[in-house]
Amino acid sequence: MTMRDKLDLLSRRRAEAEQGGGEARVKAQHAKGKLSARERLDLLLDEGTFVELDRFVVHRSTDFGLDEQKIYGDGVVTGHGRVDGRLVYVFSQDFTVFGGSLSETFAEKICKVMDLAVRNGAPVVGLNDSGGARIQEGVVSLGGYAEIFLRNTLASGVVPQISAILGPCAGGAVYSPAITDFTYMVRGSSYMFVTGPNVVKTVTHEDVTMEALGGADTHAATSGVAHFACDSEPQCIQEIRDLFRFIPSNNLDTPPRGSATDPRDRRDEALLDIVPDNANKPYDMHEVIKRIVDDGEYYEVHRDYAQNIICGFAHIGGFSVGIVANQPAVLAGVLDINASTKAARFIRFCDAFNIPIVTFEDVPGFLPGVAQEHGGIIKHGAKLLYAYCEATVPKLTVITRKAYGGAYDVMSSKHIRGDFNVAWPTAEIAVMGPKGAVEILFKKEIAESEDPQKATDAKIEEYREKFAHPYIAAARGYLDDIIDPRDTRPMLIDALETLQNKRDRNPAKKHGNIPL
Ligand code: HXC
Repeated sequence: MTMRDKLDLLSRRRAEAEQGGGEARVKAQHAKGKLSARERLDLLLDEGTFVELDRFVVHRSTDFGLDEQKIYGDGVVTGHGRVDGRLVYVFSQDFTVFGGSLSETFAEKICKVMDLAVRNGAPVVGLNDSGGARIQEGVVSLGGYAEIFLRNTLASGVVPQISAILGPCAGGAVYSPAITDFTYMVRGSSYMFVTGPNVVKTVTHEDVTMEALGGADTHAATSGVAHFACDSEPQCIQEIRDLFRFIPSNNLDTPPRGSATDPRDRRDEALLDIVPDNANKPYDMHEVIKRIVDDGEYYEVHRDYAQNIICGFAHIGGFSVGIVANQPAVLAGVLDINASTKAARFIRFCDAFNIPIVTFEDVPGFLPGVAQEHGGIIKHGAKLLYAYCEATVPKLTVITRKAYGGAYDVMSSKHIRGDFNVAWPTAEIAVMGPKGAVEILFKKEIAESEDPQKATDAKIEEYREKFAHPYIAAARGYLDDIIDPRDTRPMLIDALETLQNKRDRNPAKKHGNIPL
C-alpha cells in the first residue's frame, strides 16, 4: 500500500468513527429531541477547536456476541477544545453506541481526559447520556466507574468539573455528576435516579413517572441535585459556556475579569428605597444585587432550589465574585436546611477557585420547627458556618437589614474572618428581633400590666431604640463602617481592589472534618 492508499484508509476509518452507532440510531436520537454526541461538542466548543483523542479505541469484550460488534470510539467521544479561547477537556457519551453504556475502554478514555485536565490545569465538561454500566462487561464496567469516581474526587477543588445530563443517568452512574461542581439538566429528556420508576413501584408501591422521579425540575427545585434546569440542549450548552465567564481554569489561576464598561463610581439612587421602612415587609434581594453588579448581570446558581438564599456569580468592577444573599421575599430570608447546604457548597467552590465572596445579609435567624430540628438543621447549618469560616478568599459583607442571632455570626461576620463588613443604616443587629426579645425579657411585666398590648408595644419601641440598629456593632469594630446604600457598588469595588493580594492560610492539616 502506498502512503496515499494508507491515507485513504485512514480517512475512511475516521469517517466511520464519526458515524457512532449508525444512521438509524442517530435518527432515533434526533427523534427524541436529542443531539448526537458530536453535535453537542460542536455547540460547546469554539468552532474548529476540538481535538479528538482515542477515536479508534474499541472494547475488549467477547461475551454475548460483542466480538462481532466493535464500534470505533466505543460510545464516548473524548478530547479537548476551547471555550472562549480557554482550554477545556471534554467527554461526550454517545447513546447511539450500545446505549452510551460504560465499558472498560469507555472508562479509560474518560479517565485519560480527566488526568490530562488535572495535569494541564483545565476544566472538565462531561456530557452524559448513557444506559449505565455495560451489562455484558459486568464487574469490569463497575471498576471503570470507580476509576472515574476516584478521579472526580481527586480533581475536586483542583479544576472545575461540570456535568450536563442529556439523557438517562441511572444507578451508581449518578455519582460522578454528583461529585462534580455543577450539574445541568434538560427538561423532558434527561433523568437521574439511583433506581427507576419500575424498581420504585416494586419496592415502595409508588407510581411515579421518569420526569417526576428524576427529571430536570425535580432535581433543580426539590432535591437540589441539579443546579440548572434548561429547556433545550442548545440552551443548556450555552449556559455552560456562560459559566466560563466567571470561573478560573484551575485552583492556581485567577478568575477571568469581566468586560463590562459599567462605571466603577456609579451610585444607584434606587438603593435608597429598596428596604421598606417596616422591618417586617419583604423586598426582593435580586433587585439589590442587580443594581450593584456590573451591567445588572448575574449568573444565578440553584435558582429554583432553596430560594430563601440566592447564590450566583457576577462581576463587580470587573472582578469575578460569588454572591451569597439572604432573600427576604422568600420565607423572610430565614436559614433552613436546604439554604444552608446550598450556600455552603457554593462558598466552598468559590473558595477553592479564588473567587471572592460578597454576602448581602438580611436574615431573621434559623428556621424553627420540628421538621427542621429532626432533619438536622444543627449539622446542616453548621456546614454553612464551617464553609464561611474555612474560606480564605476575600469575604465582603453588606448587611442591608436584619442580622439576628447565630445567623449574624454565620453570614460572613467579622469574627469569622470577614475582610470588609459594612451595614446600611437600616441594619438591625441583635440576639433576636424586638418582638421575641420583649416577650422573653418582659414576660412577667407585660402579663401584669393593665394593657398588655400597649406595654408590649412600648417595650418593643424601647428595644428597637437600644438594639435594632448597626451602631453597637460599629462601635466594637465588628462593622468597618455604616454606609449610604447608594455607595455600595463603589465601596465594594474599592474593597475588592484592596483585597486583590490578600494572603490568608488555614493551619496545615490533612483535611478538616466538615459536618456532613
Ligand atoms: C449494554 C445497553 C445498555 C447497557 C442500553 N443498551 N443500556 N447495552 N448495557 N446498560 C443498549 C440497548 O441494548 C440498545 O441496543 C441500545 O442501548 C438502546 O437502548 P434502548 O433500550 O433501545 O433505548 P431506550 O428505549 O431509549 O431506553 C434507554 C434505557 C434502557 C432506559 C437506558 O436502555 C435501559 O433501561 N438500559 C439499562 C439501564 C440499566 O439498568 N443500566 C445499569 C444501571 S446500574 P441496540 O443494539 O438495540 O441499539 C449501573 C451501575 C453503575 O449503571 C455502577 C456504578 C457504581
